Amino acid sequence: MGKSYREELVGVFGDPIDENPTVVVAQDAFEKLGIPYRYITVNVKAEDLKDALRALTALNFKGIHLTIPHKVAALPYLDSISEEAAIMGAVNTVVVKDGKLRGENTDGKGFMKSLENAGVALEGKKVTMLGAGGAARAIAVELCRAGIGELVILNRSETRGRELLETIRKHFDLKTSYEKWDHTMAIDADTDILVNTTSIGLYPDVDARPDIVFDTITDRMVVCDVIPNHPHTQLLKEAEKRGARTLDGLGMLINQCVESIYYWTGEVADAGSMKDALAREYGIDVHY
Ligand SMILES: NC(=O)c1ccc[n+]([C@@H]2O[C@H](COP(=O)([O-])OP(=O)(O)OC[C@H]3O[C@@H](n4cnc5c(N)ncnc54)[C@H](OP(=O)(O)O)[C@@H]3O)[C@@H](O)[C@H]2O)c1
Repeated sequence: MGKSYREELVGVFGDPIDENPTVVVAQDAFEKLGIPYRYITVNVKAEDLKDALRALTALNFKGIHLTIPHKVAALPYLDSISEEAAIMGAVNTVVVKDGKLRGENTDGKGFMKSLENAGVALEGKKVTMLGAGGAARAIAVELCRAGIGELVILNRSETRGRELLETIRKHFDLKTSYEKWDHTMAIDADTDILVNTTSIGLYPDVDARPDIVFDTITDRMVVCDVIPNHPHTQLLKEAEKRGARTLDGLGMLINQCVESIYYWTGEVADAGSMKDALAREYGIDVHY
């Protein structure tokens, strides 16, 4: 038998994408699992998404992650979508099987796992969410499924904000509201968990900060950011100054990748080893 030099291909499509560190955790997982998979980080412009997705079957990819700005835009180009991804209206993981593309969403589950690992209780809690894009939709649906008591959505674009509000109202029975985010917003004092799901602070705009009144963050809040790079965002720094407990986007990144790898390979990756790989990469403590 000759040695096989071929590797199974997976990866991520996004724009911007260069500094997305998912390859670090995915490649660590494949090495530890001892399976010949290669994770490729690909810059795909919005206008090229359809062609890029079509290429997956031609190139025999096992699947792909989708990130900003493709998670919602990809829906029309997929052959099927899981029930959860359909409710969320967003796909972050495409699975290629028998020449067909299936859309799944592991973002929300990844986020929930990092809250669970940090021991953050959700039942009956009030969550204020910045953003209403693909990541927001996934996180909002999972939070509602977990039994939060109230969801407040702040989003710049009214169309997207209202669409998410309607989705939540259609599928869940809890107190929800949307506020147009067109001025410096105060965070309600009774908010238990504040989540930034926008791309504000994503590399290279690492000094960007959400337009909120930082002094309305209190030490009784848990403040979460989904930004994976740089993970220690301006929002988290401001929250720490006010004594709030914080969670960065790296835990979500690791946990959603574990779920995606399971869809692509049927194997359960070692999240602890992936965490260590990311900690070595960034030279910081990583919690997942
Ligand atoms: N840690 C992880 O594992 C993980 C997983 C998924 C996503 N993410 C991160 O989540 C972020 C969002 O991704 P996505 O796929 O949800 O993107 P998306 O669908 O394009 O949504 C982007 C969101 O950010 C808002 N936004 C962007 N710039 C803004 C600004 N200057 N002021 C106010 N709002 C602004 C948008 O508001 P409008 O509707 O008004 O445009 C929208 O709500 C990205 O940074 C991505 O890296 C991280």
